[in-house]
Amino acid sequence: MYKNLFKIAVCLAVILSPLMAVHDVWAGGDSASIQEYEQGCTYEEYEKTYLEFYGNSTNEMAEEGNPAELMLDDGKDLYNTVDGSKGKSCASCHGENGEKLVGVAVKYPKYDPAIKGINTVALQINRCRENQMGAKPLKYESYDQLALTLYVKSLSNGMKINVSIDGPARKFYEKGKKFYYTRMGQWNFNCAICHVKYSCKRVRTNLLSPNRRHGDHWPSYRLKWGKTGSMQRRFRGCMKNMRAKPLPYQSEEYRNLELYLTYQSNGLPLEVPGMRM
Ligand code: HEC
Ligand code: HEC
Repeated sequence: MYKNLFKIAVCLAVILSPLMAVHDVWAGGDSASIQEYEQGCTYEEYEKTYLEFYGNSTNEMAEEGNPAELMLDDGKDLYNTVDGSKGKSCASCHGENGEKLVGVAVKYPKYDPAIKGINTVALQINRCRENQMGAKPLKYESYDQLALTLYVKSLSNGMKINVSIDGPARKFYEKGKKFYYTRMGQWNFNCAICHVKYSCKRVRTNLLSPNRRHGDHWPSYRLKWGKTGSMQRRFRGCMKNMRAKPLPYQSEEYRNLELYLTYQSNGLPLEVPGMRM
């Protein structure tokens, strides 16, 4: 009798454990309780699969040049343009050729005590416009905002991404990670299912990329958009695909998420503007 009960208990545990694993993040838990997935494939395996899947078309496209290069040039002009009530340009404080901002972008996003949270390049640009120039903040994802972000980041091109999650940044990194593993939307997906667990698998006409290089190429020109856009635009797109409600640009959640994902690219050279399908 007891033997049978024991058998039933074992059976139940075996049946229930995968079901319980569906709750990758336990309600109210911190990230210590996140059940991480094993990476479906490495970035090297992804590159090989990508070639088999799409052939050489993306490389050929890249040889024709990246349309975002024009935006980058406009960003440089904007950087040198006086705007706002204080009669200043970015160059007035950060050097004519951005000398003083070289190497800055590879440390972003980063914790900033003044906002008690995570600062991004795009956000800092608007903070400088408002506080240092007496100018209006630029609408996120507008041409000028993207162009300036692109220019500031390009000043660190080729340098290794080196985002810190030490000290006060850690808490925000953990929040970003938790978001990445939180089920959302009509289909109850989370980001990590596609970009960790099932990386290198195909979804309709797409090949899922592992997230190792999700942080090294923004802003990027995207064929599907026919435009250049930010990493956070991509967050919004993936959330729409998940049938979840996208969040506003530079919301706390997206800044934490940007920190989490950029940290996964630590050690890789920053290369903007990127280009993707
Ligand atoms: C009047 C001087 C001034 C102007 C003009 C100015 N900034 Fe700044 N900028 C600062 C100061 C001071 C800081 C240090 C952080 C702070 O106080 O916001 C800073 C910080 C930054 C940083 C982060 C640097 C770091 O080491 O983390 C970036 C990037 C930046 N500014 C870009 C710009 C851009 C782009 C413009 C033009 C839209 C601009 N700034 C205009 C004074 C200025
Ligand atoms: C149903 C699968 C799926 C889910 C869930 C998903 N994505 Fe994606 N994501 C894709 C596909 C498909 C692409 C385009 C191909 C690729 O690079 O993987 C993509 C691309 C991206 C890229 C651009 C990669 C690059 O190299 O430019 C980022 C960043 C990204 N996703 C972030 C997220 C985040 C953050 C979440 C959660 C909020 C998420 N994704 C959820 C399918 C998904």
